Amino acid sequence: MKKITIAIDGHSSCGKSTMAKDLAREIGYIYIDSGAMYRCCTLFCMREGLINPDGSIQTDELERRMKDIRVSFRLNPETGRPDAYLNGECVEREIRTMEVSSHVSPVAALPFVRAAMTAQQQEMGREGGIVMDGRDIGTAVFPNAELKIFVTASDEIRAQRRYDELVAKGEKPDFNAVLENLRERDRIDSTRAVAPLRQAEDALVLDNSHMTIPEQKQWLLDRFNERRD
Ligand code: DC
Repeated sequence: MKKITIAIDGHSSCGKSTMAKDLAREIGYIYIDSGAMYRCCTLFCMREGLINPDGSIQTDELERRMKDIRVSFRLNPETGRPDAYLNGECVEREIRTMEVSSHVSPVAALPFVRAAMTAQQQEMGREGGIVMDGRDIGTAVFPNAELKIFVTASDEIRAQRRYDELVAKGEKPDFNAVLENLRERDRIDSTRAVAPLRQAEDALVLDNSHMTIPEQKQWLLDRFNERRD
């Protein structure tokens, strides 16, 4: 049976990756977290001193160094999920900190960063059989994807989920800071000039504010089966 391309877009921390990962595992497709790729670029900037104390980015230098950024994914046998690697080093944990979260949207808004990541994403999905989540997958990366989902949930519910995730990792976040970071990221992601976050016209919308993870999983599997048939 022909393997299709599945694009899952939506706001920050709305559970896209959990749904996308679960679906990919269930149907034997490759899962790619495109946000992790922008997070890797951001971690690279932080490590190389390309983010100024006022939060601005040394864009000329970053553009010159883009060729030094290689992002890849490898399946973690313990979790059964892919971990992100930056130039061969597993950075799955480092890219999920609040510090990376607070710098990632301006980095992801840079046209040359998007061009480099989009090209890598298109290459990864060339043969279909992929579930990719992000902000512009159904609109810019795979505009011809057979199944497009746009996920959202209320700001407070999304912030609570993100807060719980950080606490589970041993961080001590401030709830209001998490909420503010999420709103600010959505604002930057939705208003940038290149490939802004928006719902593709042919996307199916899922508001999962009041859904459990098993309910979302079933909803997505049903949509996949409908589309494939
Ligand atoms: O999904 P996430 O929170 O890990 O994404 C991190 C950031 O990367 C987010 O603020 C927006 C950006 N992003 C993007 O611009 N395009 C994508 N396809 C995925 C993420």
